[in-house]
Amino acid sequence: MASNQEPPQPNAYRARADVPPEPAPAGRPMATPLIELHGVAKDYVTEAVTVHALRQVDLIIRRGEFVAMVGQSGSGKSTMMNIIGCLDRPTRGRYVLDDLDVTFRSNDQRAVVRNRLIGFVFQGFNLLPRTTALENVELPLVYRGVGAAERRKRALEALGSVGLAERLHHTPNQLSGGQQQRVAIARALVTEPPLLLADEPTGNLDTRTSLEVLGLLQNLNEHKGITIVLVTHEPDIAACAKRVITMRDGRVKTDLINAVQHDAHRALAELPAVDEETAAEAAP
Ligand SMILES: Nc1ncnc2c1ncn2[C@@H]1O[C@H](COP(=O)(O)OP(=O)(O)OP(=O)(O)O)[C@@H](O)[C@H]1O
Ligand SMILES: [Mg+2]
Repeated sequence: MASNQEPPQPNAYRARADVPPEPAPAGRPMATPLIELHGVAKDYVTEAVTVHALRQVDLIIRRGEFVAMVGQSGSGKSTMMNIIGCLDRPTRGRYVLDDLDVTFRSNDQRAVVRNRLIGFVFQGFNLLPRTTALENVELPLVYRGVGAAERRKRALEALGSVGLAERLHHTPNQLSGGQQQRVAIARALVTEPPLLLADEPTGNLDTRTSLEVLGLLQNLNEHKGITIVLVTHEPDIAACAKRVITMRDGRVKTDLINAVQHDAHRALAELPAVDEETAAEAAP
């Protein structure tokens, strides 16, 4: 399903006038910013050329948002995710995460911030082979020095929350792509970070499995209040977010509220049954 096309922006999206504060629902205070990029630029200097991967990006993402980042290959999406994820530093500008200016923090300090605040999910799942689902999910807790019993308990909960309680002792090669990605999501969430960053999490998955993973992310956003920033090339996936940011040439080209957030569970239910699909493919 991967394509480099930017998603169509029909009436379902309505313009966001330069990141205005969204009106808070009656009786609820407005969510505070979690991510603040102020004039962020990133240059990659190679022997031959300097690539301006990000140019003067100003962006605020508030707690509880579900943001899809789209744009053509090379437009700067992963560069932006690396900065948001404290894996890389801006060349210019400031990055404030959870009220903490992390721009000039050392690598070690940024690692501490990262471990406390951010869960990562990648296109390639990045699970340890020959290691069970349960052990993979326990790993971030091992690094935190959490004791064995507590680790086991929390990993079991995390795997239960992604619907994999029946697959605890399977190794990655004994799991489907969608199941592997769910293990990766459980691993990202076992430390209970407020922010989940996902760079093309459905890039290796078929439509049905992509929607299953998206349904899970929507649940986590809706019911656990986890802020999600997800990179995708797929319009159907972007339509499941609450806000869609389109990058072009290292800049934010559009930043729009998705007035009609697609419900991944409903979209999944509306897909033709597998047998019908197979029959249609087999038809002359
Ligand atoms: N380490 C690097 N050294 C030099 N240039 C880089 C490096 N990483 C990325 N770039 C360049 O920066 C630009 C932005 O790259 P980035 O990976 O952020 O794009 P992207 O939007 O994630 O693309 P894709 O959709 O293909 O993943 C590209 O022109 C890329 O070639
Ligand atoms: Mg990328």
